[in-house]
Amino acid sequence: MTGTTASVTRPQAAQAGRSGDTPLLEVEHLTVSFPTATGSSKVVSDLSLTLPQGGSLGIVGESGSGKSITSLAVMGLLPTKATRTGSVRLNGDELTTLSESRMRRVRGDRVAMVFQDPLSSLNPYYTVGAQIAEAYTSHRRGVTRRRAHAVAVEAMERVHIKDAARRVDEYPHQFSGGMRQRVMIAMALSTEPELLIADEPTTALDVTVQAQILALLQEIRRDTGSGLVLITHDLAVVSEIADDIVVMRNGRCVERGPVEQIFSDPQHEYTQSLLDAVPRIDDEIGLLRDTAAGAGADVADTAASDTITGGPS
Ligand SMILES: Nc1ncnc2c1ncn2[C@@H]1O[C@H](COP(=O)(O)OP(=O)(O)O)[C@@H](O)[C@H]1O
Ligand SMILES: [Mg+2]
Repeated sequence: MTGTTASVTRPQAAQAGRSGDTPLLEVEHLTVSFPTATGSSKVVSDLSLTLPQGGSLGIVGESGSGKSITSLAVMGLLPTKATRTGSVRLNGDELTTLSESRMRRVRGDRVAMVFQDPLSSLNPYYTVGAQIAEAYTSHRRGVTRRRAHAVAVEAMERVHIKDAARRVDEYPHQFSGGMRQRVMIAMALSTEPELLIADEPTTALDVTVQAQILALLQEIRRDTGSGLVLITHDLAVVSEIADDIVVMRNGRCVERGPVEQIFSDPQHEYTQSLLDAVPRIDDEIGLLRDTAAGAGADVADTAASDTITGGPS
């Protein structure tokens, strides 16, 4: 069993909570080291963060600052040579002491991840529908093929892939980058996770498609009540979607706070330099805002054949 909250819809879970205000995710004093020729090197040092129920947290920092290692440490997916200390609690459940088989169930049912490069996560030889169905059925017994196929279509409709009943039988190469990322998000959501971790989900996409994917993540969060950890090197990306930001550098948190505060009054010079480094950040934020505002309308993706359906406004 993976706990009762996994089987109810997220808004209910968020309302019920465990003890009212148990955070969805609590990371305390997380440290990750890799062995080196001369000893070991810490790539994440004493990192603590908290995500409230239904909240969204941006983890921001330059390449190599330890963002992905942090998410892998939360998911229990570190390379075996890595050493992890500290605590990771999901809805109050300590994850670091779970066996691998129980952790696998947590990954299937309760936490889902979306990565930067959907093409490398999708199998080119199977239809996207088969892959969404597989993600769904691998954690549920006794699901018929017909039901799994219907779930895949529903999942694709939910992420606004137009003509889902037909496209469900197409292969990954027949989708554009933005549509493939929608497929990955559909797959991640098929198990109704309590928490979605998105690691650079829009980095490979152009800015317009990027904004559409961010708007989709925002909409999902609103509709399901699930929590979101959004990892990115790009402050403009978190500005629209995160409630709070953790700024990482060299494996450490150098600054944290509500997004407005980090943008208007950064305390750390590294945060300031990240803000300065974002080219035309005002333009980008403006574009993200405009596109997010229009997220309910039909929008064409970069590939002419890829159109998305309107979502609820
Ligand atoms: N398998 C590994 N073995 C040794 N060092 C690693 C390994 N994976 C990542 N690192 C190191 O950990 C640090 C943080 O990496 P990562 O979390 O991927 O950074 P990012 O913030 O870009 O996601 C980097 O210095 C990287 O070189
Ligand atoms: Mg990374």
